[in-house]
Formats: sequence, structure tokens, C-alpha cells
Amino acid sequence: MSAISDKTKLSLQDLGIGDETGVEALMGELRASLDAAIAGITSAEAAEQYRIQWLGRKQGLIGAATDNWLKSAPGPLKRVVGKWLNELRARAEAGMPAEGAAFLSPGIDITLPGVRRPIGSRHPVQLVMQEIEEIFRSMGYSVETGPEVETDYYNFEALNFPPDHPARDTQDTFFLAGDGNKLLRTHTSPVQIRTMEKQKPPVRAVVLGKVYRRDAPDASHSFMFHQMECFAVDTNITLCDLKGTLNEFIRRFFGPKVRTRFRPSFFPFTEPSAELDISCLICGGSGCPVCKRTGWVELLGSGMIDPAVFGFVGYDPDRISGFAFGTGADRLALMKYGIHDIQLLWQGDKRFLRQYR
Ligand code: DAH
Repeated sequence: MSAISDKTKLSLQDLGIGDETGVEALMGELRASLDAAIAGITSAEAAEQYRIQWLGRKQGLIGAATDNWLKSAPGPLKRVVGKWLNELRARAEAGMPAEGAAFLSPGIDITLPGVRRPIGSRHPVQLVMQEIEEIFRSMGYSVETGPEVETDYYNFEALNFPPDHPARDTQDTFFLAGDGNKLLRTHTSPVQIRTMEKQKPPVRAVVLGKVYRRDAPDASHSFMFHQMECFAVDTNITLCDLKGTLNEFIRRFFGPKVRTRFRPSFFPFTEPSAELDISCLICGGSGCPVCKRTGWVELLGSGMIDPAVFGFVGYDPDRISGFAFGTGADRLALMKYGIHDIQLLWQGDKRFLRQYR
């Protein structure tokens, strides 16, 4: 700094500079010094000092350089020196902080805690689906997927829903514009068909994914939700395998104390069909408002795969049998975490979501 400020007091001849290369070097030195001065302005006082030192009328370095260097520059170099000094003056003026500018306090306390950057958390439904996936993988099941835009064939027909069968009404389907053949899948069961089409028995698979239904939103309904589906197909698969697998799954997912029971039911693609209830997680089975004082809560649909379904995928129903079950993954999340409103899952409120990791 002092070196260059001394130089501004001398003529180019005294500095021994007589050509463009010399001028460039000198100006580069002045500019570096200017940049360092600008970087050092951390307070209003420093800004004022800077202004006097660089732009001041009497002692200002830019003014001194103009007086001493421009005047002493030999004819051909005048233009070069002038151009440089104009640039540096503009740079020095631009570096002057605006009136009233705020400055960081020079005494920064580096021991203060920093600002914590929020990191995301896993969604409760994703946590549940991951856990289900792990449970079934550990039992030797593969994980299968299928498209969310399905055809009538996979969503209904091959699952033994005949055309115009009233069971279709329970599914509240979203149809895509067109001939009514394309729809948003209403359940994950079509992946049973897709998997069996491409694979010969034995098949053991679990499916996790989004499904859609034309339901008015309320605390337990959402037009988009998630299902889990599980099925096993081989020779000699029986209802005992279904019960054993369900009990294993339920105990691993909800804990060893949970009891289960079967109730006869109907699904077009299973025969016989049963719904599975579990003892209420809130009251343990003694009866409370959540289980409507019955001690039991409906959990999932299940059954032995209907021989008619095997007909659609080219399996021999006389030789092959299988079980299947399926339920809402969101429902499982609500039960597991004691969440009372399904809408909370999709409102994106970080205060809610942050609770789950
Ligand atoms: N797909 C049925 C539904 O969404 C649930 C279901 C019931 C799946 C019975 C199954 C099953 O695999 O065997 O209503």
C-alpha cells in the first residue's frame, strides 16, 4: 500500500516507466491495492477513510496518480494512462459503500451456534412401505410393480370382475378420457395378473404402490392412497399358509401382543375370501371409541386365489393354488402411528411430517 501511494507522488520518468508494458504493471499494482482497500471496508468509519484515501480531492491516490502520471506521460502513452485512470476511478467509486449501508460487526463470535439447515424426513407412508418390503423380502418374496394407468382387463376382467358386475361399483373408478378402457388403477391387485403372466409358479411377491378412487376426501378417505398386496402361488398352497403368513406379518409389523381373527367376506378374485381383524391397538381389545367398543379393527382383505383368475394367466387351476391379501398402506400408517386424519398425510405440513424419521 505505502509503496504504491509513494509511487503516485512521482512522475513516470522518476519511476523509470517509458512504455506500455511498464504502465500496465504499474496500473495493475494500483488496482490490486484498490481491491484490497475495498475488501477491507467493514464499517462506516472505514468507508470514510477509504473515501479520503482513494477519492479525496487533496490526498486521494487516484487524484495524485492523475496529476503525476498523466501529466508526465509522453505523448503516445497519454491515451493508455488516461484510459487506465478512468477505469480505476470508476472502480474506486463503485467500491464506495452507499450512504447508510449496514456493515457486519467486525467482532464475529465464532463460538455462537450456526443456523441449522433443515433436513428432510421420511414420510410415514414411505416408512411403513419400507418396513413391509423388508418383512416380506426376509421371507423370500420379490417386490413387484405395475403401472398406475391400467386397462379394464388388468384392473377388473382378469381379476374375475365380470362386465357390469356390481362389485365394480365398490371401486369408484377414475376413467381416462377415451373409450373407457384406460383407468387409474383402483387397487394393486392387477399386479398379481401382470406378475403371473410373466412368471411361472412358484411366485411369491409383494406389491406397494399408489391407487386412486373417486372418494370424497374426509378423515379416512383420499382420492389417492397406497396399497400393499401380497400373494403366493405354488402347488399345495393352503389356507393355513395364508393364516400363518398373515400372523407372521401382523406380529412383526404391529408387535407380538396383537391378536387376529378371520371373518368371511367376498372378493371376486378370491374364493373363499376373508377379512382379517386385529385386536384394537388403542385399548388392547377391551373396547374403546376407536374400535367402536368391539375390541377389533378391520385390517385387510384376503383369500385363496380364485381358479378363474389362474385361467386368465394360463396356470392350471387343478395343480396350482395360491393365497392373496391386500390393504391400504396409509391405513397401516394411521394405525401404527396413531394418526387420526388421513388428510394430514398429504397436506405437506412440515410440523407434522418432521415427527417421522
Ligand atoms: N384389492 C382389494 C381392494 O382394494 C383388496 C384385496 C382383497 C386384495 C383381497 C387382495 C385380496 O389381494 O385377496 O379392495
